[in-house]
Amino acid sequence: MRKKIAAANWKMNHKLSDAKNFLTEFNQLLILEPLKNNAEIIIFPVFPQLFAFNKLVNNTHIKFGAQNLHQAESGAFTGEVSATMIAETGATHVIIGHSERRQYFFESNELLAEKIITALKNKLTPVYCCGETLTERENNIHFQIIENQLKTGLFHLSKTNITECIIAYEPVWAIGTGKTASPLQAQEIQSFIRQLLSVQYGKKTADQISILYGGSIKPSNAAELFAQPDIDGGLIGGASLNANDFYQITKAF
Ligand code: PGA
Repeated sequence: MRKKIAAANWKMNHKLSDAKNFLTEFNQLLILEPLKNNAEIIIFPVFPQLFAFNKLVNNTHIKFGAQNLHQAESGAFTGEVSATMIAETGATHVIIGHSERRQYFFESNELLAEKIITALKNKLTPVYCCGETLTERENNIHFQIIENQLKTGLFHLSKTNITECIIAYEPVWAIGTGKTASPLQAQEIQSFIRQLLSVQYGKKTADQISILYGGSIKPSNAAELFAQPDIDGGLIGGASLNANDFYQITKAF
């Protein structure tokens, strides 16, 4: 059985006071009506909140992680944060290769391959993001783009290491735009991703890896997306900032 996962990517949004309000409200909802679906909940706040999160989510099932890391273990990299530093906050996960990092910070598949190794060395579970732009889809090269993102960024891992990763398919044209991929469009790519995993690592391994969808998930469309056979959960941006919306999404499995 693959893990079902609802992951909140808060990006550069919630301040600490917002995070505290969110968690108070979210926990109240969980107490009133606990989840029956065993979904794993992971929140990705900004770096300065990671230590506080350790205390804030104590005694809950909520896990937390960082939105990025530097590939080096330590050194003269002003402004950067290492995997060791993230791990010592109690964080368990890290997002790697979000399209905003690829687009605005020019992160390449080769660089992301290094970040994945550093994350795993420090016992952080990588959530590796892939996805095509609108132009790439219109030019019908989206399968090729995703294959390349996976082969270069992730498939250098051994069979054991790949099972420690989560993959998120996030079509860039659906992120923050209100345009969600239809359940069938998302399923088509996610089954392609599982097929690539299967060719590389064997079916048994491919069947163990959770593949999330991300891009304008809302309470109103989560259930039909999560009902697809190769969609094991979501990486949620905008709708994860509101406790009630995110709670409704966690119930949609
Ligand atoms: P969105 O963002 O839900 O606001 O589209 C998803 C993401 O960027 O991870």
